[in-house]
Amino acid sequence: MNDEVSTPTRRDALKASGGLAVATSLAGFGLSGLYAGESNTINIALVGCGGRGTGAAVNALSTQQGPVNLVAMADAYKDRLDSSYRSINNKRLADKVKVTEDKKFIGFDAYKKAIDVLKPGDVVIMATPPAFRWVQFKYAIEKGVNVFMEKPVTVDGPTSKKMFALGEESVKKGLKVGVGLMCRHCEARGEMFQRIKDGAIGDITLLRAYRLAGPTGNTPVRKKPENANELEYQIRHFHGFLWASGGAYSDFLIHNIDECCWMKDSWPVMAKSSGGRHYRDGYVDQNFDSYSTEFTFADGTKLYLEGRTIQGCHQEFASYVHGTKGSGVISESGHAPSHARLFKSHNMVDADIIWKCPENEPNPYQLEWEDLMKAIRQDKPYNEVKRGVEASLVTSMGRMAAHTGKVITRKMILDECDHEFAPDVDKLVLGGPAPLKADKDGMYSLPQLGKQLKAGEKLREYY
Ligand SMILES: NC(=O)c1ccc[n+]([C@@H]2O[C@H](COP(=O)([O-])OP(=O)(O)OC[C@H]3O[C@@H](n4cnc5c(N)ncnc54)[C@H](O)[C@@H]3O)[C@@H](O)[C@H]2O)c1
Repeated sequence: MNDEVSTPTRRDALKASGGLAVATSLAGFGLSGLYAGESNTINIALVGCGGRGTGAAVNALSTQQGPVNLVAMADAYKDRLDSSYRSINNKRLADKVKVTEDKKFIGFDAYKKAIDVLKPGDVVIMATPPAFRWVQFKYAIEKGVNVFMEKPVTVDGPTSKKMFALGEESVKKGLKVGVGLMCRHCEARGEMFQRIKDGAIGDITLLRAYRLAGPTGNTPVRKKPENANELEYQIRHFHGFLWASGGAYSDFLIHNIDECCWMKDSWPVMAKSSGGRHYRDGYVDQNFDSYSTEFTFADGTKLYLEGRTIQGCHQEFASYVHGTKGSGVISESGHAPSHARLFKSHNMVDADIIWKCPENEPNPYQLEWEDLMKAIRQDKPYNEVKRGVEASLVTSMGRMAAHTGKVITRKMILDECDHEFAPDVDKLVLGGPAPLKADKDGMYSLPQLGKQLKAGEKLREYY
C-alpha cells in the first residue's frame, strides 16, 4: 500500500506548469545542500487561518531543511486571519513572516489570491474545513504549486472521486503533496508497522480503535442567533454540519481508522455501524453523540471502532492490533506520543512486552513537514493524496453506515451513491445562502434510519 508513487521530476513539473522561467531561481533543489542564499527560500501561503492552519504554518516555518517564509494568508473571515497572523508573527518566527497587508486576503476567493502570490515549487497550506479541499486543490494544481492539505480531504463519495482524479493529476505534474494524517510520519508507528510485517505478532486477526471523550471541537452546536448569517454560522461551527466537515465522525475518528488501516496495510471494503443521539440538550448539529462501527477488510478481518462525545463516561483515545502470536498498542492517550509497543500475548501487560518504542518520540506534526520539505528540496516523489482520499472515504463509509442504518460497501459509497453534500461549494459567496437550509424552527435535517426509501430513491444520509 505504498501511495508515494513515482512522479516526474521537479523540472518536468515546472515545465508542465509553465514555470520554467522561475526555475532558475529554484535551480539546485535537486542538489540539496550545494547552494545557498535567497533563491533557496520556499515560500508558503496559508489558506484557512484557524487553529490547525496556524499550527501548520508554525510547523512549516520551523522546518530544518532550509529557508522558509510565510508570504500570504487567506481566510473567509478577517478576525480569524488577524488572530492567526498575531500568533505566527511571534518573537521566534517574526523574521520568517513576510506577509504584507496587501497579501492578506479575505473571502471565498481569497485562496486564489494567496496561491497567486506563490511560484511553482512553493507550498500552499489548505486548512479550511474539508468541503473546500477539492476546489482549492484544483487551483493549486493549475498553478503548479506544492500543497499541504489537512485531513479529511473529502466528506462523501462524489468528492472522493473528484479528489482521486485531482490526486492523479498532481502526481502527473510532479507536485509534492502532503496530507495531514501526521501519524503516518510517526517513527514509532513506522517501526511497529515493519515489525508486524516481519511477523512479530503473526497474522493480524483484529484491530480496535476508540475515541471516547466529552464534547469535542465545535460538535455541539446551539441554534443560530437570529441576526447571524447562516453560511457563516455553519462554517464557524463546521464540525456540526456534514456538508462542511463530514461531522464529528469524519473529523475526529479518521486518525484512528487510518493508523489501524496502516498496520493492516489495507483498506476496509464494508462498514456496518450503529449510533444515536442520547442527549440533544437544545443542540441542533447533525451529529450522533455515539458511534460504533464494524469495518471489514477484503480478507474478512475486522476493525472495530467506537466514538463518543458524552461527558462523564469511560474515556479512551487509543488503537490496538491483535495477531495470531500477540498484540500491539498502536497509540494510546491521543495521537502523540504513541507509546507504541508489541506484546507476546493479548493481555498487553508489561511482562509480555516484546518491543516498545523509545521515549521522547519526535512530534509527528513537525515530522510530516520535515518530510514534505525534504522531498521538495531533493525532488523526491512525494504525493499522499491517494492515501488521504482512501482514509477519508473509508471514514465516510463508516459514518454513512451509522446514519443510514444500512451496511455500506466501498462500491456503494463510491460508485452507487451520487449524493454530494455541497456540489456548489465552489460558488459560495460571503453573505450568500448556505448549502444546508434550516427549517422554520432553526433545525437541520437528521438521519432517518430505517425509514423505507421511496421507489427509485437513492441512498442518502440525511433527508
Ligand atoms: N491533523 C490534525 O490533527 C488536525 C487537527 C485539527 C484540525 N485539523 C483539520 O484542519 C482543518 C481545519 O480545522 P481547524 O480546527 O483549524 O478549524 P478552524 O475553524 O479553527 O479553522 C478553519 C479556518 O478556515 C477558515 N475558512 C473556512 N472556509 C474557508 C474558505 N472557503 N476559504 C478560506 N478560509 C476559510 C475559517 O474562517 C477558519 O479560520 C479541518 O479539516 C480539521 O479536520 C487537523
